[in-house]
Amino acid sequence: MTQVTQMGWQVILIFSWVSLCFPLPFQNDRNSLIEEENARRMGGNLVLGKTEVEANKKLMQLKKMEVAKAMQTGLFPPSIHFFKAKPLIDQSAVFSILKKMPKGGALHLHDYAILSVNWLVYNASYLPDCYISFCSLWTVQFKFSSPLPPMEAPPGCTEWVLLKTYRKNLNNVTQFDNSLLRNLTLVTDSPEVMYPSQASIWEKFESIFIAAGGLISYAPVFKAYFYQALLEFYEDNVQYIEIRALLLPVYELDGSTHDKFWSVAAYEEVTKQFVKDHPDFVGAKIIYSTHRKQNVHQIKKAVSTAIALRTKFPKTVAGFDLVGWEDGGHSLLELKDALTFPQVLKEKLPYFFHAGETDWAGTSVDKNVLDALLLNTSRIGHGFALAKHLAARNLALKMDTPIEVCPISNQVLMLVSDLRNHPAAILMSEGQRIVVASDDPSIFGVKGVSYDFYEMFMGVGGMDADLRTLKQLALNSLNYSTLLPKERDEALKIWQKKWDRFVAEVSGVIPKVAQDIVEPVDNSCY
Ligand SMILES: *[C@@H]1O[C@H](CO)[C@@H](O)[C@H](O)[C@H]1NC(C)=O
Ligand SMILES: *[C@@H]1O[C@H](CO)[C@@H](O)[C@H](O)[C@H]1NC(C)=O
Ligand SMILES: *[C@@H]1O[C@H](CO)[C@@H](O)[C@H](O)[C@H]1NC(C)=O
Ligand SMILES: *[C@@H]1O[C@H](CO)[C@@H](O)[C@H](O)[C@H]1NC(C)=O
Ligand SMILES: *[C@@H]1O[C@H](CO)[C@@H](O)[C@H](O)[C@H]1NC(C)=O
Ligand SMILES: [Zn+2]
Repeated sequence: MTQVTQMGWQVILIFSWVSLCFPLPFQNDRNSLIEEENARRMGGNLVLGKTEVEANKKLMQLKKMEVAKAMQTGLFPPSIHFFKAKPLIDQSAVFSILKKMPKGGALHLHDYAILSVNWLVYNASYLPDCYISFCSLWTVQFKFSSPLPPMEAPPGCTEWVLLKTYRKNLNNVTQFDNSLLRNLTLVTDSPEVMYPSQASIWEKFESIFIAAGGLISYAPVFKAYFYQALLEFYEDNVQYIEIRALLLPVYELDGSTHDKFWSVAAYEEVTKQFVKDHPDFVGAKIIYSTHRKQNVHQIKKAVSTAIALRTKFPKTVAGFDLVGWEDGGHSLLELKDALTFPQVLKEKLPYFFHAGETDWAGTSVDKNVLDALLLNTSRIGHGFALAKHLAARNLALKMDTPIEVCPISNQVLMLVSDLRNHPAAILMSEGQRIVVASDDPSIFGVKGVSYDFYEMFMGVGGMDADLRTLKQLALNSLNYSTLLPKERDEALKIWQKKWDRFVAEVSGVIPKVAQDIVEPVDNSCY
């Protein structure tokens, strides 16, 4: 404690010395450097209206109080693993404001990981004709089937058991259902013990997709899941979503399956129904995605499929992407012949590449950020490695290519532990176009996108992030979406109305006086 006080005094002494002893030019230079940085920063050029200025004041007071408190307690959520930080975030006043904020679009999400898993366990798995099989790797698989049980057991797993019968014979169903919840997320009290390496966490991550997939890809669940997911995002004050979808076969009770066109039609139909029920929601679009482990020939085929899907559903299928663990899959360069195939066909296929989701600088995977730009990607998924590549950064700015930042995903999947050190901080400082998303919210134990906004606002953005940052993120999410110009105007209108109401509400909140501990005020001389 005395040490801290001593240090505080030293800081004050240095500040007074600086302001007393340096001539005017120093202060002028300093001011102009700060101004230059502020103008360059994402959101730095937004001019706030009167009510927004008020709201910003309130918000920043709350933010400063929370940061000051964290400095005292040593518990700053963005610097703590999300699984442990979540209860702290849930108590945050700033977070409660971010939940209410209309956030525009969530543009980086994956098909089978967008709805909290409670619904899968408490609703989907309780539907009739649901079978379960227990596998190694501490996981399970599901399959609906009738009148006969599913054919053969999945490899490495037990025979299928009717879940209803299985539950009937248990003496504690709550305990069992809790174990199923754990099967469907990465959440644990001790992530550092459970997941010793990126390879191990990605293995578990992909096994979750398989487990959830058995439930979600049953036709009636498929549609209900998507409707519930839209509802969860809607309730988190998101107006629009874009999802990366593998369009895996959706099956019926008799084991027959549907093709990709059926799935897109189903997404379209459910979205239409949802918008009808919630006219202040804009909609959803699909980015057809395939696994990056496949070879050039397979990817070429997927590219052709993407073109066919876009031709059939021009308003719903926005483009193409590659998914899966980037370090463990093919680099974009290795797949170049497949990815330039649309040019050969004289077809247009917008790309939304995951690129640079790696810590390994200088590898071919790390250079994906550059190759994605050369392949004219419409946005960069993660772009975690981008900050290390000056030419690619300049190119992204020049091409006006936004970066989809998913802070919680990056932390949980072990790219960065303290989110104050997330490289997006650098990208924000030089005015890269950034949007925030939650990647696989259900698997990280997250609902919607508010938690990622919290990490971005409190951690990545530092004390310079304010209401302008948030507004710019929301505006970017609609502006850099794949909404057609007319749809985008409509979306902006809906968003603006909500934003005005939000700002009015926040400006009316009366916070306690914030202590100005965070930034020492230096007005001793000038
Ligand atoms: C899910 O199941 C719970 C418990 O049975 C029920 O209360 C709830 O209404 C169901 N939700 C949906 C969306 O079906
Ligand atoms: C997954 O569920 C099974 C079945 O209840 C259970 O044995 C296993 O421990 C669960 N896995 C985890 C990680 O909780
Ligand atoms: C069943 O398990 C839950 C969760 O572990 C526990 O809270 C509850 O007390 C158990 N119920 C019985 C009857 O043992
Ligand atoms: C990217 O766009 C540029 C400019 O429109 C074009 O010259 C180039 O061929 C495109 N590259 C690919 C791989 O599509
Ligand atoms: C919206 O995006 C376009 C490029 O698609 C860009 O030129 C424009 O500056 C962006 N506007 C805002 C407000 O970000
Ligand atoms: Zn992703």
